Amino acid sequence: MAGGGLSASAPPAGVEFEAKITPIVIISCIMAATGGLMFGYDVGVSGGVTAMPDFLKKFFPVVYRKTLEEDDSNYCKYDNQGLQLFTSSLYLAGLTATFFASYTTRRLGRRLTMLIAGFFFIVGVVLNASAQDLAMLIIGRILLGCGVGFANQAVPLFLSEIAPTRIRGGLNILFQLNVTIGILFANLVNYGTAKIKSGWGWRVSLGLAGVPALLLTVGALIVTDTPNSLIERGRLEEGKAVLRKIRGTDKVEPEFLELVEASRIAKEVKHPFRNLMKRRNRPQLYISVALQIFQQCTGINAIMFYAPVLFDTLGFGSDASLYSTVITGAVNVVSTLISIYSVDKVGRRMLLLEAGVQMFLSQVVIAIILGVKVTDNSNGLHNGLGILVVVLVCTFISAFAWSWGPLGWLIPSETFPLETRSAGQSITVCVNLLFTFVIAQAFLSMLCHFKYGIFLFFSGWVLIMSLFVLFLLPETKGVPIEEMTERVWKKHWLWKRYMDGYQGVAADAINGYDSKKNGHTNGFDPISQL
Ligand code: BGC
Repeated sequence: MAGGGLSASAPPAGVEFEAKITPIVIISCIMAATGGLMFGYDVGVSGGVTAMPDFLKKFFPVVYRKTLEEDDSNYCKYDNQGLQLFTSSLYLAGLTATFFASYTTRRLGRRLTMLIAGFFFIVGVVLNASAQDLAMLIIGRILLGCGVGFANQAVPLFLSEIAPTRIRGGLNILFQLNVTIGILFANLVNYGTAKIKSGWGWRVSLGLAGVPALLLTVGALIVTDTPNSLIERGRLEEGKAVLRKIRGTDKVEPEFLELVEASRIAKEVKHPFRNLMKRRNRPQLYISVALQIFQQCTGINAIMFYAPVLFDTLGFGSDASLYSTVITGAVNVVSTLISIYSVDKVGRRMLLLEAGVQMFLSQVVIAIILGVKVTDNSNGLHNGLGILVVVLVCTFISAFAWSWGPLGWLIPSETFPLETRSAGQSITVCVNLLFTFVIAQAFLSMLCHFKYGIFLFFSGWVLIMSLFVLFLLPETKGVPIEEMTERVWKKHWLWKRYMDGYQGVAADAINGYDSKKNGHTNGFDPISQL
C-alpha cells in the first residue's frame, strides 16, 4: 500500500514499499482462487441442475409436467417461483450475511472470516447433495449463500492487503478469473452428470461444490492473517513479523508505520457507514453502487443461471443446451484473461465503452432472431440460426468478461479512500448480491412475459450504463490508490463539486488536519496512539 504518507515518520506519497513475491503471497493467490471458485461454482451449477428432468421430477413436479406439455408457451415452461427461489435464495442469504461479515472481518480478522465461510459452504453442500425434500434443498442454498457473503467480503480484502502494490490490480482480477473458472467447472460437471441415467446426477453436481469448499477451508487454516488485520486488532509485533515474512525483507518499517497510521485513522471513524454518506465520500459511493447495479443489469446472470434453460426454450434439446453452456463458460474464462492483460494498458473506460457497443449489438440481434423465429409454440430454431444465437451469446459474454465482470469489482476496490474502504466494500458486495437476487428471482417470469423482448430490455440498460461511463466514470488506470482524491475526483467536471475544500486523507495527515477535531499534528506518533 504505497503512497499513504500519513504521519511525519511515514514515507511521502508515491513511494513504493520494498516487497518480493514470496511463497506466502503465492499461497494467498491459491486461496483467492478457491474463494472465487466457490462463488463461481454456485453461480454455474444451478442452471444445469434445473434443466435436469430427474431433479425437476423430484423437487418441482409441476415444472417437470410443464416441460412435457406440447401446448404450453415455449417462453413460459420454466416460469415457477419455487424454481427461481432455489437459485435466488443463495443471493438473498449472501447479502444479509455481508453485514455480519463486515463485523467479523474487523473484529475476528480476515482469516477467521474465510474459515467461517468454509464451514457454511461445507454444511450447505452436504445438505444440498443429500436433499430429500425442497426444504433441505433451500436451507442448503441459504447456507451456501452465507458462505458467499462471508467469503466475498473477506477474500478480496485479504488479497488486497497481502499483495504487493505493483501486482494488486492483477490479483484483484485473478479473483474474477476464478469465479469464471468455477462457473465453467460447474458447467462441465453438469454436462457429465446429466448423462447419468439412474437419476442422481444432480446430487453429484451439487456435491462437487464440496471440492472448492474444502480447499477454501483448508487454505484458511493454513495461512496467516494479514498484517493490517493484526495491527487493527492491536497485535502490533505479530503484525510486523507477518509483514516481514510476506514481503520477504526486514525493511518493512515504512509500510508498518503506514499500516499503524491507517488503522488509527480507521479507528477514529466511529460510524463507518455514516462516514460513507458524507458529501465528500459520495462520488465513490454513487459510482460503486451504480457499477454493481449496472453489472447485473447487463443481463449476464440471466445467461449464467439459466443458459441451459434458455437454450432448451429455443428448442436445443437438453444435451445441446448443456453443451452450449460449456462453450459459453469457456469463452467467459478466456475473455477474462484478456482483461487481466489489457486493463492497465488501455484503461478501464476504454474496456467498458467498447464492451458496451459489443453487448448492445449482440443483444439487439438476438432479440430480432428470436422475435422472428421463436413464437410461443414453434419448435424452436433450426440448426444454423441456433448456432448463430450461441455465437451472439458468446460475443456478449466475452465483452462482459473483459469489462463489467472484473471492473465491477476492481473499480470500487480502488476508488474509496482508506477511511471508507471496508464499509464501501460491504455496500459493494451487498448491492451486487441484491441485484443478482433480483435477476435470479425475476428472469424466468420476465422471459415468460417479455419473450424475446427480454434482450431488448437488457440492451436498453447497456445503453444507459455506457452513457454513464462516458460522462460520469473517471479513469483510474495507473493512479496510486491514496492519490485518487487529488488526481481523479478533484479533476472530474462533476465530482469535483463534492470535493470542495477537501484535501484528501494523505494531505490531511501531512497538513496536520483532522476532519473531526482538527486534532492531530505533523509531529504525530501513531504507535503511541494505539
Ligand atoms: C458477477 C457475477 C457473474 C460473474 C460471471 C461476476 O463479476 O458478479 O454475478 O455471475 O461475474 O462471470
